[in-house]
Amino acid sequence: MLVLGCGTGRVSRLLQTDRDVTGLDQSAPMLERARARSRPGDRTRWVQGDIRTFDLGLFGEIVVPNGTFCFLHTREDQLTCLQACARALPVGAPLVLDLPAPDFAYFGVPHTPERLGWQGQVEGRAARRTREVWRRPLEARIDLLDRYFLDDTLVATSLLPLQLCLPREIEWMCEAGGFWVDAIHGDYSGGPLRDGCPRIIVRACRC
Ligand SMILES: C[S@@+](CC[C@H](N)C(=O)[O-])C[C@H]1O[C@@H](n2cnc3c(N)ncnc32)[C@H](O)[C@@H]1O
Repeated sequence: MLVLGCGTGRVSRLLQTDRDVTGLDQSAPMLERARARSRPGDRTRWVQGDIRTFDLGLFGEIVVPNGTFCFLHTREDQLTCLQACARALPVGAPLVLDLPAPDFAYFGVPHTPERLGWQGQVEGRAARRTREVWRRPLEARIDLLDRYFLDDTLVATSLLPLQLCLPREIEWMCEAGGFWVDAIHGDYSGGPLRDGCPRIIVRACRC
């Protein structure tokens, strides 16, 4: 099994109980953490690469967990990723995409000013993270701007743009990328897709 956007390996470790898992991520620090958490007998290998351009051979299944697909912001990036997945799967093999379901009420507020997100201590110093959010409903886009402070001094900022998708849009994308959609669920228990459900979990099979 291949896990795209494995991060520090949270999901990959749960999936490796009865199979070999390859976790792919572009972030070296995330993969370093994943490797540091490995235990003897683990069946996961960690690979640095891009989910749009990877070429690691054939897999029995590909999972794209926890909104990683939302990190792809253009149609071209989304399609390129799906086409790379199609090349890595034999006919009939599944691809699972797990995305957050768009919350339309949340999109109704275009901007949330800077707010405290977390505070605590880092190496004995007062630390906090704040978050400011912009939303563009027509583009189904959310921009998260996080600011990090040590002793009240701004030390870092990070902007994370997230691209949300609707179920029908994902169906079209999968079809354009070489898949047919077998099932769509609205939560992790396999519940139905319905208004207000928290997730869009798509199982698509390689044509
Ligand atoms: C929301 S995190 C999910 C991490 C992990 N699956 C989890 O649930 O804990 C998304 C991950 O996708 C990775 N990512 C985003 N764009 C990527 C790309 N183009 N190629 C490879 N990894 C990417 C990020 O580095 C990040 O680790």
